[in-house]
Amino acid sequence: MAEQTVRTKNVGLRGITVADTKISYIDGERGVLIYRGYRIEDLALRSTFPETAYLLLHEFLPSPEELQAFEAKLREFRALPGFVIEAMKAWPRGAHPMDALQASIPLLAMDDPDLGDESREANVTMALRLIARLPAVVGAWHRIRQGLDVLPPDDALSHAGNFLWQVLGKKPDEETARIMDVCLILHADHTFNASTFACREVVSTRAHMYAGVAAGVGALSGELHGGANARVMEMLQKIDRDGVTDIAAWVRDRLDRKERIMGMGHAVYKTLDPRARILKELAFQLGEKTGQTKWPEMTAAIEEAAMAELEKRGKKGIQPNVDFYSASVYHILGFPGDLMTCIFAVSRIAGWCAHIIEEKFAEAQGKPALYRPKAEYVGDYCGRMDCEYVPPEKRGRD
Ligand code: COA
Repeated sequence: MAEQTVRTKNVGLRGITVADTKISYIDGERGVLIYRGYRIEDLALRSTFPETAYLLLHEFLPSPEELQAFEAKLREFRALPGFVIEAMKAWPRGAHPMDALQASIPLLAMDDPDLGDESREANVTMALRLIARLPAVVGAWHRIRQGLDVLPPDDALSHAGNFLWQVLGKKPDEETARIMDVCLILHADHTFNASTFACREVVSTRAHMYAGVAAGVGALSGELHGGANARVMEMLQKIDRDGVTDIAAWVRDRLDRKERIMGMGHAVYKTLDPRARILKELAFQLGEKTGQTKWPEMTAAIEEAAMAELEKRGKKGIQPNVDFYSASVYHILGFPGDLMTCIFAVSRIAGWCAHIIEEKFAEAQGKPALYRPKAEYVGDYCGRMDCEYVPPEKRGRD
């Protein structure tokens, strides 16, 4: 059968459906996000991150026994192999945490006894190791770069609580650990976003799960994707440092300079991102608890001014996305700006692994296929494709 050509160049594959998925669903017009049939609002209110990760990986919510076993495995896998910590100690202290995280993924692969076993069961176990260990990697690198000892995991703490402990070196109270837990639920999956697509594309070559995840971490690092939360915090801190009092004027000025308001707008949502609504509440809750409402208040003022100004300029539907208020939440929790995208990865690893498993065992989409889009060759050299090879010593530039 002749290959069908569909032309959608330079629009980032917008509007092109490339696979079926049973994992999550977004209605960008109505602001709906669903993980395997469950609304994000319900999961954020009533589930926990381990339970949500189980749901994403296994398609259904666990029984109490299944959840207990899943959490026990997560605890068992938390500790990092010694050679990973030793390798990190040799890395330049100034390395960005996302680079350190990405560099650690193949090292974790080398330690995984299931690597090479391409059964579904082995992939699920690899996913559990990744979910358990990414928080420990972020914590280890943050401590090492400050010249501090790496902290051992604490089995008495929840997944989110232990993450806070291993990174920040302080055991959180229940409310704080729960806020972290909800943040992890909210970021855990989001259909075919850039990093998830990167994961799926890589494993469509039959590469292993860790190769896919390394690609996902790289894709997430960009400021148009996961890197936006760090940029939101930079924006807030600059406003604070500069003593800006007229936020509306600040917004107008930024838009006049054709700069974007970080944390607003979304490729899919043309209304309020449902996660942003929950994160806004969490930011104010945490702000009140710690006496730091200044950050969510400033964010809310930007939201109001930017929406009004963008609307005036004929740009409708540009509203806060997941990164807008998460920046305040993470800052108040004590995370430095350059760790914020790592937090996203610590959560999204659950979705990445679920998608990798779906891609590899794609009952939902029939036979898995190697992704291979086309590009139109628009090179314009020597009449398109007739360049004559000239040896180096005879080459001139005219
Ligand atoms: N601030 C100001 N203007 C924005 C904007 C923002 N946050 N987001 C989009 N726009 C404007 C663009 O400048 C563009 O205007 P133009 O047509 O005059 O050039 C128009 O809206 C469409 O933008 P485009 O980038 O083509 O739309 P998109 O749907 O692909 O945008 C994002 C999605 C996320 C890339 C974009 O909204 C953005 O850059 N947001 C800021 C970064 C961010 O928060 N990323 C995290 C996403 S979860």
